[in-house]
Amino acid sequence: MNPTRLSRREFVRISASAALSTPLLQPNWLAAQSAPGRPVRFVSIGTGIRGCDLLRAARQVPQGVLVGTADLYDMHLKAGVEAYGKEVPTTRDYRSLLGRKDVDAVIVAVADFQHRRVVLDCLDAGKDVYCEKPMSHNVADGLAMVKAVAENKRIFQAGSQRVSNVVYRKAAEIYASGKLGDVHYIEGHTDRNSPSGAWVYPIALDASPETIDWATWLRDAPERPFSAERFFRWRCFADYGEGVAGDLFVHLLSGIQHVTGINAAPGRALSSGSLTHFNDGRDFPDLLATLYDYPSLTVNLHCNQNNAAGDSTIIYGSLATLIIQNNTLTVTPQDTRPESDVYSLNGWTLAAKQQYLKEWHAAHPVPPPKLGEVEAYSAPAGYDDSVAHIATFFRAVETRQRVVEDEVFGNNAAIACHMANHSYFQRAIATWDSATQTIKS
Ligand SMILES: NC(=O)c1ccc[n+]([C@@H]2O[C@H](COP(=O)([O-])OP(=O)(O)OC[C@H]3O[C@@H](n4cnc5c(N)ncnc54)[C@H](O)[C@@H]3O)[C@@H](O)[C@H]2O)c1
Repeated sequence: MNPTRLSRREFVRISASAALSTPLLQPNWLAAQSAPGRPVRFVSIGTGIRGCDLLRAARQVPQGVLVGTADLYDMHLKAGVEAYGKEVPTTRDYRSLLGRKDVDAVIVAVADFQHRRVVLDCLDAGKDVYCEKPMSHNVADGLAMVKAVAENKRIFQAGSQRVSNVVYRKAAEIYASGKLGDVHYIEGHTDRNSPSGAWVYPIALDASPETIDWATWLRDAPERPFSAERFFRWRCFADYGEGVAGDLFVHLLSGIQHVTGINAAPGRALSSGSLTHFNDGRDFPDLLATLYDYPSLTVNLHCNQNNAAGDSTIIYGSLATLIIQNNTLTVTPQDTRPESDVYSLNGWTLAAKQQYLKEWHAAHPVPPPKLGEVEAYSAPAGYDDSVAHIATFFRAVETRQRVVEDEVFGNNAAIACHMANHSYFQRAIATWDSATQTIKS
């Protein structure tokens, strides 16, 4: 939350209310746990940072049972087994897992530029897919995945876990109720000021061409000699990732799409930014701000080097302001009750002022209603929306019902990320041409 955006009075009301009584929202994956039916048998492709996180989350959802993992790096294979806490077959060649008839679904947590190939292979093998965000490395990859999901009639979920977060679901409910009034402006930011936040991840001591299958890792990117730096810090390089937009904006955009119900690429995007602090040979800016045009909605996102601001989405409505910060949301009614003017009467004579006030009060005989209370909601302490998102996926595999963050939703959020980068690098406004399904400037 950025107090400078709110009046001091509003900020104090929000803080006091959130501190005093914040109803806890019930985690929404509990229902999935008790659902009848046989478990979903899944494998995991990519058991690095995120893949291990997802396996730790998945072991809390008994509806799914891990039956194998694949990775190209020996230590990540071992870490995946540790994360899930159960011995399962592991392999460097994921295709051997896809040939198994006892596998229903696949969690894909490989680097962004590898999503397309792995996801298409999974779909061709008849598996349902959970694919990490951002869904695509470029527009063509995303469109190919959307087509393949439809052709194979599979369940697909993209991996921005806030779409299954109870706080965002509550926000979507409040938004749909009309309580916020007209909304034409949304602001979101995820700010980071640390080497880890800027993807300067440590390089494991055992990293070498013997422990990592570099040729396979690199197969959809330009040829280069083995580089442990690129393997561990791929987010910094345009051949493999999409920088701040693909790593962080995608979560903000997915949350905003979910809350507002928008499921389309933005019409236009305009980015500003620079590479200042972490100027270490990377391709992407470390500061990025992007303005998006959606139909009658402006969305303003940024990522800067300031840890204090954290991760927030602020929805400005004509009747109320909704703020989501981490796992808490507040709704603050806006005071739009009629008031007689004061400021503009400064240049009036006393007699004119008195006449105006007399007429104003005659026109407003009824005292305005009391201003509504600030509402605040939180997820319970320790709530992990990745568990909720995995549970959403497993439930969909069982019920064959589409999820909210399906391939079309995931693709639209990813296109918005590509538009942010297009605008930054081309120094031009990026426009989404829906007829040709391309970004133009
Ligand atoms: N939802 C989130 O909050 C979140 C958080 C972090 C990362 N992510 C996403 O998760 C994905 C993975 O990111 P990460 O940080 O775990 O990266 P990582 O580099 O730590 O792990 C990726 C793993 O994929 C493996 N891999 C690549 N190609 C493979 C192949 N053909 N077969 C088998 N394994 C293969 C690599 O060996 C590596 O171990 C990315 O798309 C990233 O954007 C999402």
